[in-house]
Amino acid sequence: MKVVVIQGPNLNMLGVREQNIYGPMKLEQIHSQMKEFATQNNIEIEFFQSNLEGEIVDKVQECYGDAHGIIINAAAYTHTSIAIRDALSAVNLPTIEVHISNIHRREDFRKENMIAPVCTSSVVGFGPFGYHLAMVGMLQIMSEMKAAQEMQQQAPAAE
Ligand code: DQA
Repeated sequence: MKVVVIQGPNLNMLGVREQNIYGPMKLEQIHSQMKEFATQNNIEIEFFQSNLEGEIVDKVQECYGDAHGIIINAAAYTHTSIAIRDALSAVNLPTIEVHISNIHRREDFRKENMIAPVCTSSVVGFGPFGYHLAMVGMLQIMSEMKAAQEMQQQAPAAE
């Protein structure tokens, strides 16, 4: 199973930017913890960060036929990007959206969310631990999908 982790604008500044909101952890530290969990659970994992909307759209499209699931923090593009939303909808993969902060209790403009309606689920407000929760959630989604497929294969063909 392959999971692609997509990180949006300014997340490369974690550990520096607004530590009171996002905490002291750097993106590399978050990714190395995710990598450890992935290795332990036999998951192939790829990390991608970009500050550019079009590059994120390209990366989502590349996941089609390559990845089994996407974990995405679209950062500020969450609130504005119809293009990223359409890309996620187009590839139609199990997708978990992560936000380090609780976007629901911040400024009003962060309550607008273009991405969530095309995601399988959202993890919000747990700090960097949310990425770990997303990995656990992705494992659960994958095992449910596998069980459903096996059930279908075992079911007698309809007459
Ligand atoms: C964020 C929340 C967004 O509103 C913000 O623009 C970010 C980070 C989060 O992880 O809490 O850059 O996605």
